[in-house]
Formats: sequence, C-alpha cells, structure tokens
Amino acid sequence: MAGLLAGHVAAVTGGGSGIGQAIAEAYAREGARVIVLDANPEGAQETVDRVARAGGAAAAITLDVTDRAACRAVAAQVAKTAPISILVNNAGINRRNAFLADPETVARDWDDILSINLDGMFNVTRAFVDQLRATRGRIVNIGSIQSFVHVSWPNSAAYTTSKHGVLGFTRALAAELGPDGVRVNAIGPGLIETRLNAEARARNPEMVATVMRHTPLGRAGQPQDVAGPAVFLASDLASYVTGCIVMADGGFRTV
Ligand SMILES: NC(=O)c1ccc[n+]([C@@H]2O[C@H](COP(=O)([O-])OP(=O)(O)OC[C@H]3O[C@@H](n4cnc5c(N)ncnc54)[C@H](O)[C@@H]3O)[C@@H](O)[C@H]2O)c1
Repeated sequence: MAGLLAGHVAAVTGGGSGIGQAIAEAYAREGARVIVLDANPEGAQETVDRVARAGGAAAAITLDVTDRAACRAVAAQVAKTAPISILVNNAGINRRNAFLADPETVARDWDDILSINLDGMFNVTRAFVDQLRATRGRIVNIGSIQSFVHVSWPNSAAYTTSKHGVLGFTRALAAELGPDGVRVNAIGPGLIETRLNAEARARNPEMVATVMRHTPLGRAGQPQDVAGPAVFLASDLASYVTGCIVMADGGFRTV
C-alpha cells in the first residue's frame, strides 16, 4: 500500500480505544503494518477489525505496559517477524482526585497513574529500543497540555506529574538516540472526547465549558485530531524534527 508510512511496522500502545485507535487506523491508511498493543484484548481486536475493513494490515497483542517482563517478551515475539520502525507510547489513564482527598485514594492514584503513564512508557521503549535503532525508527509519545500546566479543576497531581515526565523523557531520548538516527517526539493533546474523560465530561459540564472558553478553536478535539500530527511525526515529512512536542489542543496553550 502506498502512503506516507509505506514499508513501516508501527506498534501503538493503548491502540484499542480513543486516540490510540485513531492513530493505528491512520497509520494503516498510510501504509504501515500496525501492531496494536493493549491491556484490553477486545479493544485491540476492534481496532484490528476496523483496520482490516478499511483494507489495512494490523495485528493485536494483549500487553499490560506495567509488566516489564511481558514488554520484553512481546518485543522479542515481534522481532521474529519484522522489527518495528515506529513506536507510539499512548497507553494511559487519568483519575480526577484532589491531592487532599482521602490519602489511600490519592496514594493508589499516584501508583497506578505513574506506573502506566510513565513506567509503562519506559518499559515498552526499553524493550523495543534495539529494533528502533536497527531501523533508524521514530518514537511518538502522547503527552498533554498537562505536560506544561495543571488545569484548574480537581485533577490528580499524579497525572500532571506523569505528563511532565513524558515531555522530559521525550527530550532526553531525542538527545541520546539522535546519533542512531532515531527521532523522538511528543504530542500534547488538549481535551479530546474519549472514554478517558467521558464520565468527567458527563458529570462536570462546567469543566468542559471552562476548557472551551480557553480554547481558541472553540471545540473539543476528536481522536482524529491527534492522528494527523502522529502521522506527520512518524513520517519522513518530519525528518529533521526531534525532541519536540506538537500541541493538538485547539490553541489551549497559546492563551
Ligand atoms: N482524551 C484526552 O483528552 C487526552 C488529553 C491529553 C492526553 N491524553 C492521553 O492520550 C492517551 C490515550 O488516551 P485516550 O483519551 O485515548 O483514552 P482511552 O481510555 O480511550 O484509551 C486508553 C487505552 O489505553 C489502554 N490501557 C490502559 N492501561 C493500559 C495498560 N496498563 N497497558 C496497556 N494498555 C493500557 C486502555 O485499555 C485503552 O485502550 C493517554 O496517554 C492519555 O493520557 C488524552
């Protein structure tokens, strides 16, 4: 299949829903063979089916990114067929609890959010890094507007910390892997309508209104709004772009 990503093999974590699913579909449309890595096998299979129906190539592997040994095993399994040349670290969770909420809850949120959003990104990247070096590949990490700011409604300090960490990791790896020809970039989505925030949007319409007042484009984002920048960063169009974060936030960060 011709396209901006023809000949590439792309692994997308959290590819079974929302932003990851849209990225997986967009990559397949651009000619990549996509490996959907998700802790939820049904979601991963749904993405594979959607890609297949559109004429693309995808496979699903169940993977919990917090399981370091499993990440290594999956990377070894993938290498037997073909090494990946694109890795998207997208798997993530959020829980909106104030730091001064029940201490047990706050501690549990801290552990879960950091272990998925940050340790998970480390586990998967470390497991696949030799393949990415061999293919002079590309890494796209999913950050957030919270890679820079803490939004003003109750929202866990853990999530903000994890997304600041995504940006730091992106910059550190861009510097370290650049000599191997591996480009490492991030995307900073604003409010994107997915399962991640469906409950918060339903429960707290004022939160949505506050974000929209602060968003020059005046609308919430859709997963497809993040897929375009993800294609760009993975493609040769971005051949001299590394260590960057591309905001897909309707302008939130500019105002
Ligand atoms: N939706 C937004 O407004 C928004 C904004 C900024 C950043 N993000 C980030 O985008 C990424 C994707 O979020 P989304 O909105 O598409 O959410 P989503 O809930 O729709 O999808 C997240 C996916 O990650 C998977 N996942 C969760 N834990 C996992 C684990 N331990 N191992 C493997 N897979 C796991 C889930 O099964 C799910 O398929 C996250 O990193 C999130 O922080 C989202």
